[in-house]
Formats: sequence, C-alpha cells, structure tokens
Amino acid sequence: MQKIGVVGCGLMGAGIAEVCARAGLDVVVVESSEGAAKAGLARLEKSLARAAAKGRIASADEVLARLTVVTDLEALADRQLVIEAIIEEESAKIDLFKQLDEIVVDPDAILASNTSSIPIMKLGVVTSRPHHVLGIHFFNPVPVLALVELVPSLLTAPEVTERARDFVEAVLGKSAIEAGDRAGFIVNALLIPFVLSAIRMLESGFATAEDIDRGLVLGAAHPQGPLALADLIGLDTTKAVAESLYEEFKEPLYAAPPLLARMVDAGLLGRKTGRGFYTY
Ligand SMILES: NC(=O)c1ccc[n+]([C@@H]2O[C@H](COP(=O)([O-])OP(=O)(O)OC[C@H]3O[C@@H](n4cnc5c(N)ncnc54)[C@H](O)[C@@H]3O)[C@@H](O)[C@H]2O)c1
Repeated sequence: MQKIGVVGCGLMGAGIAEVCARAGLDVVVVESSEGAAKAGLARLEKSLARAAAKGRIASADEVLARLTVVTDLEALADRQLVIEAIIEEESAKIDLFKQLDEIVVDPDAILASNTSSIPIMKLGVVTSRPHHVLGIHFFNPVPVLALVELVPSLLTAPEVTERARDFVEAVLGKSAIEAGDRAGFIVNALLIPFVLSAIRMLESGFATAEDIDRGLVLGAAHPQGPLALADLIGLDTTKAVAESLYEEFKEPLYAAPPLLARMVDAGLLGRKTGRGFYTY
C-alpha cells in the first residue's frame, strides 16, 4: 500500500499522516473546511520542523512534498488505505464511511478508523465492504508512541487484518496488538477508568491535581500523572470515550464525573485549548 488517505488533520490525523509520509508513502489528507486544512498543514509543518531540528528526519520539506491537505473527499478515490481520524462522533463517522464506500474505487482498499471507542461493526455495516473495514488505533503523540491496536470486527476478513498488521509493523515500524471489537479495546478500557478515578478524587477535594499526578509519577513510575494525561488526550475526547464505554458496559466506573462534563462545557479541553487541569 503506497497511496494512503487520512480524514481529519487534528491531533491524531496529523500524526498519522506524518508517520505515513515519513515512511515514504504518498499521503492525501482531507479536512472539513479551508480553515481546518490550513491549521492541519501548519500542525504538520511544525511537527516536521521539530523532527528535523532533533535530527529524526533529514529534511522536513522532503516529507512535506509527500503530503497534500485538501477539503475534497473525492481526492481519496485512488487510495489503497484510508484511515479516518475525525471527531469521536458516531453519526459523523457513519456518514463518512458511507461516503468513503462510494468514493474509494479499489475493491481491495482498506477502510480503517482510528476511533477510540465506537464499534467498528457500526462503521463496517454502512459500507458495501464490511470485510475491508477495521480499526487501526494509534496513540498520541503518533510519531512518538510505538503502539497500534488492530481491531477487526466480526465481519473483517482475516487477510485484511494481516495486511494491516504488516503495514503498521513493517512499513510504519510500530508494534501491533489485536483487540476484539468492544468499546475501549485493550488500552482505553483500562486507562479511562483510571483517569476518571483521578478526576473524581480531585472533584471531591481529597487532593490537588499536582499531588495526584506526582503520586503516580513518583510512586508508580508513570511518565506523567492521570490528570496531565487527560489534558494531553483532550478532555472532550476523554469524555467521549468514557461515554462510549459507559453505553457499552453500563458500569459506574466508566461514567464521566460532573467536573469533566463542566470543563468540556467551558471549553477547557486541555493542552489543545491552553487550559485543562493545568494551564499551558
Ligand atoms: N486524542 C487522542 O489521544 C486520541 C488517541 C487515539 C485515537 N483518537 C481518536 O482519533 C480521532 C480524532 O481525534 P483527535 O484527538 O485527533 O481530534 P481533533 O479534534 O484534534 O481532530 C479532529 C479533526 O477532524 C476534523 N473533522 C471533523 N469532521 C470532519 C469531516 N467530516 N471530514 C474531515 N475532517 C473532519 C476536524 O476539523 C478536526 O481537525 C477520534 O476518533 C479519537 O477518538 C484520539
């Protein structure tokens, strides 16, 4: 697979597009508006300039030459793999998969979603090719973190999962683990209740954000505490993933605490808006 499409050029889409272009692939990225496309390209340029400054790539321009950011979904017609990384909203993703099914010509093309929590089956069944639809779930920041979760649905062809595994391991140099098509897959099913517990602890006035995070960094050797991690993930995404987990399992440990909901209402989304549990 040489011709890759990415939909969404936010935090994750830009990272996925970057690692594909750095691996020498031709990448077309589609955003929803001219403004978002401009912001997405700026995000890519900034990240590649940083990688070049640190000596991780020879030239940012050479990688940028393999990247095109557009607003027209039709530009994905000739792609062999399309990875969707738009907002975590089921109806938006369903609409997009219906359109991708119409647009992407190659019957062998893989249509993948980077969703954190939406069942892959719901995206597969709205296409005429559910056997070619699976989850390829990257971790943030994509250029840095090695893990990818592969999530075949009950209808995904085993050959498609194997092609996806080859791609993420041999081409992108990442490590793949495979999970069933259940909300949260492996990592978020364990991580999100942990982050929500930290938010509940803060909300109850039991400890400060700094002490909760320092406790886990110094006492459990975590690279960062759960509240700093929530700021990195984005509090809107954290809440959306918690809601999907709650909807799937109806377990109180997955219920988003009111503080998280109020912060999202207030637009305090973490690093991406300059303020979450911390100010950036
Ligand atoms: N943030 C994380 O740590 C993380 C980790 C793994 C997976 N994910 C998943 O990745 C996806 C994207 O998350 P994100 O953090 O990058 O969000 P984000 O808000 O940073 O980016 C989403 C982007 O999608 C664009 N978009 C929305 N609708 C679109 C459409 N119809 N067509 C084209 N572009 C569209 C938006 O303009 C925005 O730039 C979500 O499904 C999320 O659950 C997030």
